Amino acid sequence: MEQTQNILMDNKELGTKKLMLEIIDLRKSFGDNHVLNGFNLRLFEGENLVIMGKSGSGKSVMIKCLVGLMQPDSGSIMVMGKDITKLRQTALDELRTEIGFLFQGSALYDSMTVRENLEFPLRRHKHKFGTISDTTQIVIEALKSVGLEHAINLMPSELSGGMKRRVALARTLILKPRIILYDEPTSGLDPITAKEIIELMRSIQATYKTSALIITHDVDCARVVSERMILLVDGINYAEGTFNELAQSKDEKVRAFFKQ
Ligand SMILES: Nc1ncnc2c1ncn2[C@@H]1O[C@H](COP(=O)(O)OP(=O)(O)OP(=O)(O)O)[C@@H](O)[C@H]1O
Ligand SMILES: [Mg+2]
Repeated sequence: MEQTQNILMDNKELGTKKLMLEIIDLRKSFGDNHVLNGFNLRLFEGENLVIMGKSGSGKSVMIKCLVGLMQPDSGSIMVMGKDITKLRQTALDELRTEIGFLFQGSALYDSMTVRENLEFPLRRHKHKFGTISDTTQIVIEALKSVGLEHAINLMPSELSGGMKRRVALARTLILKPRIILYDEPTSGLDPITAKEIIELMRSIQATYKTSALIITHDVDCARVVSERMILLVDGINYAEGTFNELAQSKDEKVRAFFKQ
């Protein structure tokens, strides 16, 4: 395989911030298909980090390793200082409540109301919240943060695509995660609704001081939300920098992302 040039840029300012998530030398192959070949990532407190990579480059594989849905071949995944590949089930479950995952396409439970969808994670993670006798206030608060308190009793089939995405975001926020993973948050939405979701992601970051990892194909989304970006090419973090730094790169593989 052709040797790739790693043009990692060292951002010294980030050195003083708390490290929320660190992926070190992550490797994952399926037979001869070497998907991740030593991928590295560092996410700092309060930061929005965008990951871009072309279709099939391994973004979902990386995120699945991160949430424990897939076992990497090697490498470590440190979440707030703990290596999740080495944790026992109970400790892993506790740590998972710190990570919110917004699935691509929302993934709401169709047979449950909005309220029941939001109550679901509260019940599932009792160890963090105890048994809550009245969840109404918590549900309303989460819905308010996405501007949808009036939709509390609706069914998912009664919601538009943008509303579904907002409810899914409220369901992610209800566990008060420190880190949010967004998998293609704007895909399938019209440009105006996509812009609203992007605004919401920014306001969530400002209000809750969450750190976010955002996987996207959407160059506009990347430009608006990212403080830093990583381009995943050939299974490694091929290039890293701010949107403007990367957009001005002379590297062919980097330029390919911005030619749209
Ligand atoms: N469970 C699996 N078994 C075998 N191969 C897999 C599996 N999951 C993913 N792959 C392979 O890993 C590679 C990366 O897939 P992945 O889903 O991570 O791509 P992606 O970057 O998320 O692409 P997209 O932008 O289209 O979502 C692909 O070649 C895919 O075929
Ligand atoms: Mg994917």
